[in-house]
Amino acid sequence: MTYKVDKLDETVTFKLPKKMIGLVKLILNFKGKNNDQMYGFYKSSYIEKGKEKYLLSSQFEPSDARAAFPCFDEPNFKATFDISFIINQSLEAVSNMPIKSSIKRSKGMKLVTFKTTPLMSTYLVYLGVGDFESVSGKVGNLPLRVLTIPGKKVYAKLALEYTKKFMSFYFKYFNIDYPLPKMDLIAVPDFSAGAMENWGAITFRDTAIFATNKSSSITKERVSITIAHELAHQWFGDLVTMKWWDDLWLNESFATFMSYKAVDFAYPKWDILGELYLDRSSAFLEDGLKNTHPISVEIKKSDDANSIFDSISYEKGSAILDMINDFIGDKPFSKGLNIYLKTFAYSNTYKEDLWDSIQKALQNDKKLKDVSINKMMKSWIENPGYPILDLKSNGKSLNIIQSRFFISGKKINNGNNWIIPMKYKVDETEYKAVIESKSTTINIPNNKRLIINPNQSGFYVTKYETPLIKKIFRDINSKDFDNKMIAGLVSNTYLLLKSSNIRIEEFIDLIEPGYKNISYPSLILLNGYLLGLYSIFYKTKISKKIKDLSLKLNQYIIKTVGFDKSKNDSEINKEVRFNAISNLVTMGDLDTSKKLSDISKKYFKNKSYDIDRNIKSSMYKNYALNGGPKEFEFLKKVYQENKDVVEKHIILSAFGYFNKSELYNKILDYSLSKNVKIQDSIYITSSFLILPGRDKIYFSWLKKNWQKLKNIYEPSTLMLLDFISELSYVNDESLEEEIKQFFSNKANLRFDVKSEYDKVIEKIDNNIRMLKNND
Ligand code: BES
Ligand code: ZN
Repeated sequence: MTYKVDKLDETVTFKLPKKMIGLVKLILNFKGKNNDQMYGFYKSSYIEKGKEKYLLSSQFEPSDARAAFPCFDEPNFKATFDISFIINQSLEAVSNMPIKSSIKRSKGMKLVTFKTTPLMSTYLVYLGVGDFESVSGKVGNLPLRVLTIPGKKVYAKLALEYTKKFMSFYFKYFNIDYPLPKMDLIAVPDFSAGAMENWGAITFRDTAIFATNKSSSITKERVSITIAHELAHQWFGDLVTMKWWDDLWLNESFATFMSYKAVDFAYPKWDILGELYLDRSSAFLEDGLKNTHPISVEIKKSDDANSIFDSISYEKGSAILDMINDFIGDKPFSKGLNIYLKTFAYSNTYKEDLWDSIQKALQNDKKLKDVSINKMMKSWIENPGYPILDLKSNGKSLNIIQSRFFISGKKINNGNNWIIPMKYKVDETEYKAVIESKSTTINIPNNKRLIINPNQSGFYVTKYETPLIKKIFRDINSKDFDNKMIAGLVSNTYLLLKSSNIRIEEFIDLIEPGYKNISYPSLILLNGYLLGLYSIFYKTKISKKIKDLSLKLNQYIIKTVGFDKSKNDSEINKEVRFNAISNLVTMGDLDTSKKLSDISKKYFKNKSYDIDRNIKSSMYKNYALNGGPKEFEFLKKVYQENKDVVEKHIILSAFGYFNKSELYNKILDYSLSKNVKIQDSIYITSSFLILPGRDKIYFSWLKKNWQKLKNIYEPSTLMLLDFISELSYVNDESLEEEIKQFFSNKANLRFDVKSEYDKVIEKIDNNIRMLKNND
């Protein structure tokens, strides 16, 4: 039989010997090589007792199953898989299903055969071979394991505990059994993303799963969210799958949203729902660009799906789900999901299937049964961007005008309206309304205070007249505001600043008086904003005000929660302390620096000195910030000798803090040295750009190394674009010109970085405009 390969399209076409009708059985022999580029069926390396060892693992989403075996590599072609390996007897094989048989062969080999999988998409198939060790347990009758490379299983126990808790939650919440007979979680030393939801065999980057009870609260949070996310996919994505990649959000938005529910259920004291506010904020910033895309977007070929694993599919999608969940209530929402999963198990869906299921769940709701969920959600899923509501009140009625919000401040009326599920609060009473038109007026009872979007679950910006907003901010001090709500208000105000609706002085004047009420999660948000603003304005007079506010805010936090850990610390205390100290270091607070220097002296002298994990990263950053060439050499040694992957990652993120100009290029070069895994280089470059004024140096380094970076990072890894994202700090016209010049060369603008590049240029334009407007 003859065949034709189209390399660009990644397809092979067979010419049948004669016309055939009915079922045709095609048997193909094929061979391949395990690459070391983290896609397809690839090779990952690690050092054991001084020797380099390998394991094999797979990463197929969205379209690299075809890099391992010929298949109809699209989500809608669900099939069953029979997988077997011939491997060395000392090794272990892992796949989606449990082992059916293992038969010894000659020359120390064995044939391992797995049970047949249920109907599933190719991108979820898993192949793994290695010298694994594991911890195991059960949830109900379901066997669970966490597998690691030799010597690391101590770091896997907590993950096992999390898995048990989250699985129990999903059993209850989805009300559908987990469909496979086992669940494995595998820590892979080389991994391009954070984790991947292969059905029954979830893979993780080691730093996204390794944790112990002593880990920092940030580490525990990240690990638990990642596990909860991938476990949610076992239902959302694996059992019920989108028909085509244009509905990728059905996977990612749900897993993101559900992960918070699961963690909140298992660890209510962590107040993890605060993360929703941080996610929403990042979605607002990305989706306020002209270069955004609707949540549901046309994808022509599988490869293009790579470009939508972004904050629109994850964070915006999750925010939209939170909005509808909050509007209709928890019960109908979870009932709707249950109908959806039951109806479409083992098959594929369009987004409408989801809304229809939720609509069914609302059948008996007197107030909401006539609201068309499909029509409402369509406007959020199919329109790019989100609305800003201009609000005017005369005390008796409120006029609302909606238009699309752009960070550039532009107002373009393209006639698209959103159907907004709006909540508002008049004094202590909450109301609901569905806003459809461009301009809407609603009657409002007499009141002392009116708040639109009171718990900030709505995905829109509100612009009150000045007296109204002043009244709200004045009340922040009255303590009857939840900190999540403060986070929402701060985020809303930051968007007004970015879009030049208000000036930076106004922004500071609104926020500053309430600084004592900033805590988790508003602290994390505000610190991020202040750091970003500092980096844009650092050459101007206003930078002092920004820095002063940041110092005042974080010093106050330390005054209230203490610099040192205490026995009664809540996770929230630990987290705000960590965040405050870290920002105090970056802003150059002397007192903090002195305390941290004392700690690092003791720690470097005696490694068993028990230091609070929550301040380790600040300690390393402070060490670098105050260090020179000698300290740089020392830190490299500390990094290379350290065996704890989480701490290694923390150390990498400190390298960028060395502040002696003669070290700049050495730091950046170190990121590409053989001592740093290619999955980790970005930690150094991104920390390099946190301190202001380094964009020129970074860009000339990037230019010089671009060819090399292109060779290191294949498009499938999605990692090259991270090096471009870092340029979004640029706020200088001549540098922007240089960047444009460089990327006007088609060879430099590889297809996998194109959409990130467009966004970065828009962000630079916004920085420059913001500087000018606030002059
Ligand atoms: N399905 C993704 C992994 C993925 C990402 C595959 C990009 C192909 C391209 C997985 O479920 C995921 O979302 N992982 C996240 C972690 C999560 C906690 C947000 C990741 O890798 O960052
Ligand atoms: Zn996911």
